[in-house]
Amino acid sequence: MKAVLFDLDGVITDTAKFHFLAWRDLGAELGIEVDEAFNEELKGVSRIDSLERILAQGGVADKYSSAEKDELCVKKNADYLELIKEMTPADILPGIIPLLEELKSAGIKMIVTSASKNAPGILDLLQVRAYFDGIVDPATVAAGKPAPDIFLAGAQLAGVAPADCVGVEDAASGVEAIKAAGIVAVAVGDEQVLALADRVLPSTADLSLAVLRETWENRKK
Ligand code: BG6
Ligand code: MG
Repeated sequence: MKAVLFDLDGVITDTAKFHFLAWRDLGAELGIEVDEAFNEELKGVSRIDSLERILAQGGVADKYSSAEKDELCVKKNADYLELIKEMTPADILPGIIPLLEELKSAGIKMIVTSASKNAPGILDLLQVRAYFDGIVDPATVAAGKPAPDIFLAGAQLAGVAPADCVGVEDAASGVEAIKAAGIVAVAVGDEQVLALADRVLPSTADLSLAVLRETWENRKK
């Protein structure tokens, strides 16, 4: 294992709940219910793709022009930014700093492979940006999660073969993307939702260099 590719929302910090609240409120304005079960399908999915899924859920996919969809995305993001603006290092999920420290000491590359355009700003609020060797800009990859592109770009940015990476995710779409890239997947969350992962842990507090390395070593070859 030479590099770890990190999702951000729901792995490094619990912004997943704020994305949910912002989509739920936008959905309510459009008369479309976004409940927690449906929100699972939005996790890891880019802003515009999430909106498309919500509109499809409401049966109104064709009702909005692309300019209107862009406006809805701007609105959602403004709400989201309002919700996260007071984030501090205290909002880093349990186990993450010890993991980043262990990986740094072991000389393992760390890359952020988040679908979020807000990732650099959030990493700054959390004061963890310096740990990472790179952040993949999601605007530069052709297809979002569950396509493998962002994880392949992450491996490339690390200068490491996909087979020598481990990806860490909290979303089904993200795990699917990691596996499609030929990368070992460690997931945090519900075992049923994340069944495709090589290993599912209940909490970020269970993440460690030893667990990631062991999962990578036991991968099917
Ligand atoms: C992912 C989140 O990390 O980023 C999704 O899990 C979100 O919920 C996506 O839609 C895009 O984020 P942003 O910040 O660019 O709207
Ligand atoms: Mg996530």
